[in-house]
Amino acid sequence: MVDEAAIKRAQEHFGELLKKQMERIGRMKASKDETDLSKIDKIIIGVCGGDGIGPYICNSARIVMEHLLADRIKSGNIEVRTIDGLTIERRVEVMKAIPDDTLEELRKCHLILKGPTTTPKKGDPWPNIESANVAMRKELDLFANVRPVKVPELGVDWVFFRENTEGSYALGSDGIDVSDELAIDFCVATSIGTERIIRAGFEHAKKSGINYVSLVTKANVVKTTDGKFLSTAEAVAKDYPGIKWDDWFIDIMTAKLIDPYRRSDFKVMVLPNLYGDILTDEAAQIQGGVGTAGSANIGSKYSMFEAIHGSAPRMVDEGRAQYADPSSMIKAVAMMLNHMGEVEKAAKLEMALDICCQFEKKKTMTGRSNGATGDEFAQYVMDTMARSDIKAVWQSYVDAAIAKAKTK
Ligand code: IPM
Ligand code: MG
Repeated sequence: MVDEAAIKRAQEHFGELLKKQMERIGRMKASKDETDLSKIDKIIIGVCGGDGIGPYICNSARIVMEHLLADRIKSGNIEVRTIDGLTIERRVEVMKAIPDDTLEELRKCHLILKGPTTTPKKGDPWPNIESANVAMRKELDLFANVRPVKVPELGVDWVFFRENTEGSYALGSDGIDVSDELAIDFCVATSIGTERIIRAGFEHAKKSGINYVSLVTKANVVKTTDGKFLSTAEAVAKDYPGIKWDDWFIDIMTAKLIDPYRRSDFKVMVLPNLYGDILTDEAAQIQGGVGTAGSANIGSKYSMFEAIHGSAPRMVDEGRAQYADPSSMIKAVAMMLNHMGEVEKAAKLEMALDICCQFEKKKTMTGRSNGATGDEFAQYVMDTMARSDIKAVWQSYVDAAIAKAKTK
Protein backbone atom coordinates (compact mmCIF):
# COMPACT_ATOMS: atom_id res chain seq x y z
CA MET A 1 0.00 0.00 0.00
CA VAL A 2 1.34 3.44 -0.88
CA ASP A 3 1.18 6.00 1.90
CA GLU A 4 0.78 9.22 -0.08
CA ALA A 5 0.99 11.42 3.02
CA ALA A 6 4.31 9.87 4.02
CA ILE A 7 5.68 10.41 0.51
CA LYS A 8 4.58 14.04 0.59
CA ARG A 9 6.30 14.62 3.95
CA ALA A 10 9.47 13.00 2.65
CA GLN A 11 9.37 15.06 -0.55
CA GLU A 12 9.09 18.26 1.45
CA HIS A 13 12.01 17.24 3.65
CA PHE A 14 14.01 16.34 0.54
CA GLY A 15 13.18 19.71 -1.03
CA GLU A 16 14.59 21.48 2.03
CA LEU A 17 17.78 19.43 1.82
CA LEU A 18 18.23 20.28 -1.85
CA LYS A 19 17.75 23.96 -1.10
CA LYS A 20 20.43 23.85 1.60
CA GLN A 21 22.87 22.02 -0.66
CA MET A 22 22.33 24.53 -3.46
CA GLU A 23 22.93 27.35 -0.99
CA ARG A 24 26.13 25.61 0.06
CA ILE A 25 27.28 25.45 -3.56
CA GLY A 26 26.60 29.18 -3.79
CA ARG A 27 28.70 29.81 -0.67
CA MET A 28 31.56 27.67 -1.96
CA LYS A 29 31.54 29.53 -5.27
CA ALA A 30 31.38 32.96 -3.64
CA SER A 31 34.00 32.25 -1.00
CA LYS A 32 37.17 34.26 -1.29
CA ASP A 33 38.41 33.04 2.09
CA GLU A 34 42.02 32.11 2.05
CA THR A 35 44.60 32.02 4.79
CA ASP A 36 48.27 32.48 4.01
CA LEU A 37 49.95 31.61 7.30
CA SER A 38 53.23 33.14 6.17
CA LYS A 39 51.56 36.57 6.06
CA ILE A 40 49.92 36.51 9.48
CA ASP A 41 51.53 38.44 12.34
CA LYS A 42 49.92 36.37 15.03
CA ILE A 43 48.86 32.81 14.27
CA ILE A 44 46.19 31.58 16.66
CA ILE A 45 46.19 27.88 17.44
CA GLY A 46 43.07 26.66 19.24
CA VAL A 47 43.47 23.54 21.34
CA CYS A 48 40.19 21.76 21.75
CA GLY A 49 40.42 18.70 23.97
CA GLY A 50 37.10 17.07 23.09
CA ASP A 51 35.94 14.41 25.52
CA GLY A 52 36.71 10.89 26.74
CA ILE A 53 40.48 10.42 26.45
CA GLY A 54 40.56 13.50 24.17
CA PRO A 55 41.62 16.11 26.77
CA TYR A 56 44.36 13.78 28.05
CA ILE A 57 46.04 12.89 24.77
CA CYS A 58 45.46 16.37 23.39
CA ASN A 59 47.26 17.86 26.37
CA SER A 60 50.25 15.53 25.92
CA ALA A 61 50.41 16.62 22.28
CA ARG A 62 50.08 20.26 23.27
CA ILE A 63 53.15 19.93 25.51
CA VAL A 64 55.16 18.70 22.52
CA MET A 65 53.74 21.40 20.25
CA GLU A 66 54.47 24.21 22.70
CA HIS A 67 57.96 22.85 23.21
CA LEU A 68 58.66 22.96 19.47
CA LEU A 69 57.09 26.35 18.93
CA ALA A 70 58.42 27.90 22.15
CA ASP A 71 60.35 30.68 20.38
CA ARG A 72 57.46 31.76 18.24
CA ILE A 73 55.07 31.62 21.20
CA LYS A 74 57.47 33.71 23.26
CA SER A 75 57.88 36.30 20.54
CA GLY A 76 54.09 36.62 20.22
CA ASN A 77 54.02 35.27 16.66
CA ILE A 78 51.91 32.34 17.85
CA GLU A 79 49.17 32.30 20.46
CA VAL A 80 47.88 29.00 21.79
CA ARG A 81 44.32 29.13 23.09
CA THR A 82 42.32 26.57 25.02
CA ILE A 83 38.84 26.04 23.62
CA ASP A 84 36.41 24.24 25.89
CA GLY A 85 32.88 23.20 25.20
CA LEU A 86 33.17 20.20 22.90
CA THR A 87 32.34 17.64 25.56
CA ILE A 88 29.44 15.31 24.91
CA GLU A 89 27.71 16.65 28.05
CA ARG A 90 27.85 20.23 26.78
CA ARG A 91 26.83 19.27 23.26
CA VAL A 92 23.86 17.32 24.59
CA GLU A 93 22.94 20.18 26.94
CA VAL A 94 22.55 22.58 24.00
CA MET A 95 21.56 19.76 21.60
CA LYS A 96 24.07 20.91 19.00
CA ALA A 97 27.00 19.15 17.35
CA ILE A 98 29.08 22.22 18.22
CA PRO A 99 27.75 24.76 20.75
CA ASP A 100 27.43 28.26 19.19
CA ASP A 101 29.93 29.91 21.55
CA THR A 102 32.49 27.16 20.91
CA LEU A 103 32.08 27.54 17.16
CA GLU A 104 32.56 31.28 17.52
CA GLU A 105 35.83 30.67 19.39
CA LEU A 106 36.98 28.16 16.76
CA ARG A 107 36.34 30.70 14.01
CA LYS A 108 38.79 33.09 15.68
CA CYS A 109 41.63 30.58 15.26
CA HIS A 110 43.72 29.85 12.19
CA LEU A 111 44.70 26.34 13.20
CA ILE A 112 43.00 23.88 15.51
CA LEU A 113 44.42 20.92 17.38
CA LYS A 114 41.44 18.77 18.30
CA GLY A 115 41.11 15.74 20.55
CA PRO A 116 38.58 12.99 19.79
CA THR A 117 34.92 13.64 20.54
CA THR A 118 32.22 11.08 21.32
CA THR A 119 29.87 10.46 18.40
CA PRO A 120 26.56 8.95 19.53
CA LYS A 121 24.79 6.44 17.34
CA LYS A 122 21.18 5.29 17.36
CA GLY A 123 20.54 3.34 20.56
CA ASP A 124 23.27 5.01 22.67
CA PRO A 125 22.33 6.59 26.01
CA TRP A 126 23.07 10.00 24.44
CA PRO A 127 20.61 11.66 22.05
CA ASN A 128 21.61 10.96 18.45
CA ILE A 129 23.18 14.39 17.75
CA GLU A 130 25.48 14.93 14.76
CA SER A 131 29.16 14.13 15.15
CA ALA A 132 31.22 17.13 16.29
CA ASN A 133 33.99 16.11 13.85
CA VAL A 134 31.68 15.99 10.92
CA ALA A 135 30.02 19.27 11.92
CA MET A 136 33.37 21.02 12.31
CA ARG A 137 34.56 19.81 8.93
CA LYS A 138 31.37 21.12 7.35
CA GLU A 139 31.14 24.40 9.32
CA LEU A 140 34.76 25.37 8.64
CA ASP A 141 34.68 23.87 5.14
CA LEU A 142 37.69 21.63 5.81
CA PHE A 143 37.32 19.81 2.55
CA ALA A 144 40.52 17.75 2.41
CA ASN A 145 41.12 15.08 5.01
CA VAL A 146 44.76 14.17 4.49
CA ARG A 147 45.94 10.93 6.12
CA PRO A 148 49.49 9.69 5.56
CA VAL A 149 50.48 6.11 6.36
CA LYS A 150 54.09 4.98 6.23
CA VAL A 151 55.65 1.58 6.87
CA PRO A 152 59.20 1.71 5.53
CA GLU A 153 59.91 -2.01 5.88
CA LEU A 154 56.88 -2.82 3.74
CA GLY A 155 57.71 -0.15 1.20
CA VAL A 156 54.45 1.52 2.12
CA ASP A 157 54.26 5.31 1.77
CA TRP A 158 50.66 6.33 1.18
CA VAL A 159 48.79 9.60 1.44
CA PHE A 160 45.01 9.46 1.39
CA PHE A 161 43.02 12.48 0.28
CA ARG A 162 39.59 11.81 1.72
CA GLU A 163 36.80 14.17 0.64
CA ASN A 164 35.59 15.62 3.91
CA THR A 165 32.42 17.65 3.47
CA GLU A 166 30.21 15.68 1.09
CA GLY A 167 29.44 12.07 0.12
CA SER A 168 27.42 10.06 2.61
CA TYR A 169 28.41 12.44 5.40
CA ALA A 170 26.90 15.65 4.01
CA LEU A 171 23.39 14.57 5.00
CA GLY A 172 24.34 11.77 7.36
CA SER A 173 22.08 13.15 10.09
CA ASP A 174 19.36 14.22 7.65
CA GLY A 175 18.12 10.93 6.24
CA ILE A 176 14.38 10.30 6.12
CA ASP A 177 12.36 7.71 7.98
CA VAL A 178 9.71 7.86 5.29
CA SER A 179 7.53 5.37 7.16
CA ASP A 180 8.03 2.65 9.77
CA GLU A 181 9.06 0.41 6.89
CA LEU A 182 11.24 2.68 4.79
CA ALA A 183 14.40 4.62 5.63
CA ILE A 184 16.36 6.63 3.07
CA ASP A 185 19.80 8.24 3.34
CA PHE A 186 21.52 10.49 0.84
CA CYS A 187 24.90 10.80 -0.79
CA VAL A 188 25.99 14.18 -2.16
CA ALA A 189 28.57 15.13 -4.78
CA THR A 190 28.92 18.65 -6.13
CA SER A 191 31.14 19.65 -9.04
CA ILE A 192 33.09 22.17 -7.01
CA GLY A 193 33.42 19.87 -3.98
CA THR A 194 34.60 16.97 -6.08
CA GLU A 195 37.01 18.99 -8.16
CA ARG A 196 38.77 20.62 -5.21
CA ILE A 197 39.61 17.34 -3.44
CA ILE A 198 40.83 15.69 -6.62
CA ARG A 199 42.92 18.74 -7.43
CA ALA A 200 44.35 18.68 -3.89
CA GLY A 201 45.48 15.09 -4.44
CA PHE A 202 47.10 15.88 -7.79
CA GLU A 203 48.71 19.05 -6.43
CA HIS A 204 50.22 17.08 -3.55
CA ALA A 205 51.60 14.52 -6.01
CA LYS A 206 53.06 17.26 -8.18
CA LYS A 207 54.67 19.10 -5.25
CA SER A 208 56.10 15.90 -3.80
CA GLY A 209 57.47 14.57 -7.08
CA ILE A 210 55.05 11.64 -7.09
CA ASN A 211 53.88 10.65 -10.55
CA TYR A 212 50.99 8.36 -9.66
CA VAL A 213 47.50 9.08 -8.28
CA SER A 214 44.76 6.51 -7.72
CA LEU A 215 41.08 7.34 -7.55
CA VAL A 216 38.93 5.03 -5.44
CA THR A 217 35.17 4.83 -5.96
CA LYS A 218 32.37 2.34 -6.44
CA ALA A 219 31.28 3.97 -9.66
CA ASN A 220 30.09 0.67 -11.14
CA VAL A 221 27.24 0.62 -8.59
CA VAL A 222 26.95 4.09 -7.08
CA LYS A 223 26.71 5.53 -10.53
CA THR A 224 25.66 9.12 -10.02
CA THR A 225 27.78 10.56 -7.22
CA ASP A 226 30.78 8.25 -7.63
CA GLY A 227 30.34 8.60 -11.38
CA LYS A 228 30.78 12.35 -10.95
CA PHE A 229 33.92 11.73 -8.91
CA LEU A 230 35.36 9.70 -11.71
CA SER A 231 34.42 11.97 -14.60
CA THR A 232 35.77 14.96 -12.65
CA ALA A 233 39.05 13.09 -12.14
CA GLU A 234 39.31 12.54 -15.88
CA ALA A 235 38.96 16.26 -16.47
CA VAL A 236 41.31 17.35 -13.65
CA ALA A 237 43.99 14.84 -14.65
CA LYS A 238 44.35 16.62 -18.01
CA ASP A 239 45.95 19.52 -16.11
CA TYR A 240 48.65 17.15 -14.78
CA PRO A 241 50.07 15.47 -17.88
CA GLY A 242 53.17 14.26 -16.01
CA ILE A 243 51.13 12.29 -13.51
CA LYS A 244 49.82 8.83 -14.30
CA TRP A 245 46.44 8.07 -12.77
CA ASP A 246 44.05 5.16 -12.57
CA ASP A 247 40.82 4.24 -10.81
CA TRP A 248 39.95 1.41 -8.47
CA PHE A 249 36.80 0.19 -6.82
CA ILE A 250 36.78 0.42 -3.06
CA ASP A 251 36.28 -3.31 -2.51
CA ILE A 252 39.32 -4.38 -4.50
CA MET A 253 41.39 -1.52 -3.09
CA THR A 254 40.63 -2.82 0.41
CA ALA A 255 42.11 -6.12 -0.73
CA LYS A 256 45.09 -4.53 -2.50
CA LEU A 257 46.21 -2.69 0.64
CA ILE A 258 47.03 -6.05 2.16
CA ASP A 259 48.50 -7.51 -1.02
CA PRO A 260 52.26 -7.61 -0.32
CA TYR A 261 53.07 -7.71 -4.05
CA ARG A 262 51.00 -4.72 -5.00
CA ARG A 263 50.51 -2.34 -2.10
CA SER A 264 53.79 -0.48 -2.29
CA ASP A 265 52.87 0.69 -5.81
CA PHE A 266 50.17 3.00 -4.47
CA LYS A 267 51.17 6.52 -3.51
CA VAL A 268 48.37 9.09 -3.47
CA MET A 269 44.79 7.92 -3.15
CA VAL A 270 41.79 10.21 -3.57
CA LEU A 271 38.40 9.02 -2.39
CA PRO A 272 34.89 10.06 -1.41
CA ASN A 273 34.18 10.59 2.28
CA LEU A 274 32.87 7.22 3.48
CA TYR A 275 35.34 5.09 1.53
CA GLY A 276 38.10 7.33 2.84
CA ASP A 277 36.91 6.80 6.40
CA ILE A 278 37.00 3.03 6.05
CA LEU A 279 40.14 2.63 3.96
CA THR A 280 42.22 4.89 6.22
CA ASP A 281 41.41 2.77 9.28
CA GLU A 282 42.61 -0.28 7.39
CA ALA A 283 45.75 1.54 6.27
CA ALA A 284 46.42 2.77 9.81
CA GLN A 285 46.09 -0.78 11.10
CA ILE A 286 48.85 -1.86 8.70
CA GLN A 287 51.00 0.88 10.20
CA GLY A 288 50.39 -0.36 13.74
CA GLY A 289 46.83 0.62 14.61
CA VAL A 290 44.52 3.62 14.45
CA GLY A 291 46.33 5.02 17.50
CA THR A 292 49.38 5.66 15.34
CA ALA A 293 47.72 7.75 12.65
CA GLY A 294 47.17 11.50 12.53
CA SER A 295 44.95 13.45 10.26
CA ALA A 296 44.92 16.93 8.73
CA ASN A 297 41.60 18.53 7.83
CA ILE A 298 42.47 21.30 5.43
CA GLY A 299 40.27 24.09 4.13
CA SER A 300 41.05 27.33 2.36
CA LYS A 301 40.61 29.38 5.53
CA TYR A 302 40.96 27.02 8.48
CA SER A 303 42.79 23.78 9.18
CA MET A 304 42.21 21.27 11.94
CA PHE A 305 44.51 18.47 13.06
CA GLU A 306 43.33 15.43 14.95
CA ALA A 307 43.68 11.72 15.69
CA ILE A 308 41.80 9.33 13.42
CA HIS A 309 40.33 7.32 16.29
CA GLY A 310 37.53 7.86 18.78
CA SER A 311 37.30 9.04 22.39
CA ALA A 312 37.49 5.63 24.16
CA PRO A 313 35.06 6.58 26.97
CA ARG A 314 35.61 3.15 28.52
CA MET A 315 39.16 4.12 29.45
CA VAL A 316 37.82 7.13 31.33
CA ASP A 317 35.12 5.06 33.07
CA GLU A 318 37.80 2.62 34.19
CA GLY A 319 40.03 5.44 35.48
CA ARG A 320 42.88 4.89 33.02
CA ALA A 321 42.56 7.87 30.65
CA GLN A 322 46.03 9.13 31.62
CA TYR A 323 47.48 5.93 30.11
CA ALA A 324 45.90 6.51 26.69
CA ASP A 325 48.42 6.61 23.84
CA PRO A 326 48.89 10.18 22.54
CA SER A 327 50.91 9.15 19.43
CA SER A 328 48.09 9.92 17.02
CA MET A 329 47.70 13.43 18.43
CA ILE A 330 51.46 13.99 18.40
CA LYS A 331 51.44 12.86 14.77
CA ALA A 332 48.70 15.44 14.19
CA VAL A 333 51.06 18.07 15.66
CA ALA A 334 53.72 17.01 13.13
CA MET A 335 51.17 17.49 10.35
CA MET A 336 50.32 20.92 11.72
CA LEU A 337 53.99 21.89 11.79
CA ASN A 338 54.36 20.79 8.17
CA HIS A 339 51.31 22.81 7.22
CA MET A 340 52.81 25.87 8.91
CA GLY A 341 56.02 25.48 6.94
CA GLU A 342 58.00 24.21 9.96
CA VAL A 343 59.21 21.36 7.81
CA GLU A 344 62.40 20.56 9.73
CA LYS A 345 60.69 20.45 13.10
CA ALA A 346 57.96 18.27 11.62
CA ALA A 347 60.52 15.85 10.19
CA LYS A 348 62.34 15.62 13.49
CA LEU A 349 59.13 14.98 15.38
CA GLU A 350 58.15 12.26 12.93
CA MET A 351 61.54 10.61 13.29
CA ALA A 352 61.26 10.73 17.07
CA LEU A 353 57.79 9.20 16.92
CA ASP A 354 59.04 6.38 14.68
CA ILE A 355 61.94 5.69 17.05
CA CYS A 356 59.75 5.77 20.17
CA CYS A 357 56.75 3.85 18.79
CA GLN A 358 58.17 1.41 16.28
CA PHE A 359 61.79 0.74 17.15
CA GLU A 360 63.27 1.67 20.51
CA LYS A 361 60.04 1.41 22.53
CA LYS A 362 61.59 2.41 25.87
CA LYS A 363 58.23 3.55 27.15
CA THR A 364 55.47 1.15 26.28
CA MET A 365 51.92 2.30 26.16
CA THR A 366 49.58 -0.43 27.39
CA GLY A 367 46.59 1.74 28.17
CA ARG A 368 46.95 0.64 31.79
CA SER A 369 48.99 1.43 34.88
CA ASN A 370 51.65 -1.12 33.90
CA GLY A 371 52.53 1.15 30.96
CA ALA A 372 53.63 4.76 30.57
CA THR A 373 51.28 7.71 30.91
CA GLY A 374 50.64 9.94 27.91
CA ASP A 375 52.68 12.75 29.46
CA GLU A 376 55.60 10.40 30.15
CA PHE A 377 55.45 9.30 26.54
CA ALA A 378 55.43 12.95 25.38
CA GLN A 379 58.55 13.55 27.48
CA TYR A 380 60.18 10.50 25.89
CA VAL A 381 59.45 11.91 22.43
CA MET A 382 60.92 15.30 23.41
CA ASP A 383 64.03 13.66 24.88
CA THR A 384 64.45 11.69 21.66
CA MET A 385 64.16 14.85 19.58
CA ALA A 386 66.92 16.38 21.69
CA ARG A 387 69.38 13.66 20.65
CA SER A 388 72.01 15.09 18.34
CA ASP A 389 72.30 11.77 16.46
CA ILE A 390 68.55 11.36 15.93
CA LYS A 391 68.80 11.26 12.14
CA ALA A 392 71.47 8.57 12.12
CA VAL A 393 69.63 6.55 14.77
CA TRP A 394 66.41 6.72 12.79
CA GLN A 395 68.13 5.72 9.55
CA SER A 396 69.85 2.74 11.15
CA TYR A 397 66.56 1.46 12.57
CA VAL A 398 64.81 1.83 9.22
CA ASP A 399 67.65 0.11 7.34
CA ALA A 400 67.62 -2.78 9.81
CA ALA A 401 63.85 -3.16 9.53
CA ILE A 402 64.02 -3.19 5.74
CA ALA A 403 66.82 -5.79 5.79
CA LYS A 404 64.84 -7.94 8.20
CA ALA A 405 61.70 -7.70 6.07
CA LYS A 406 63.67 -8.87 3.03
CA THR A 407 64.81 -12.06 4.77
CA LYS A 408 61.25 -13.07 5.64
C1 IPM B 1 37.21 9.67 11.47
C2 IPM B 1 36.15 9.20 12.42
C3 IPM B 1 34.90 10.07 12.22
C4 IPM B 1 34.45 9.90 10.79
C5 IPM B 1 33.75 9.74 13.19
C6 IPM B 1 34.18 9.88 14.63
C7 IPM B 1 32.52 10.54 12.91
O1 IPM B 1 35.88 7.86 12.22
O2 IPM B 1 37.67 10.82 11.61
O3 IPM B 1 37.61 8.91 10.60
O4 IPM B 1 33.72 8.99 10.46
O5 IPM B 1 34.88 10.71 9.97
MG1 MG C 1 37.13 6.89 10.82
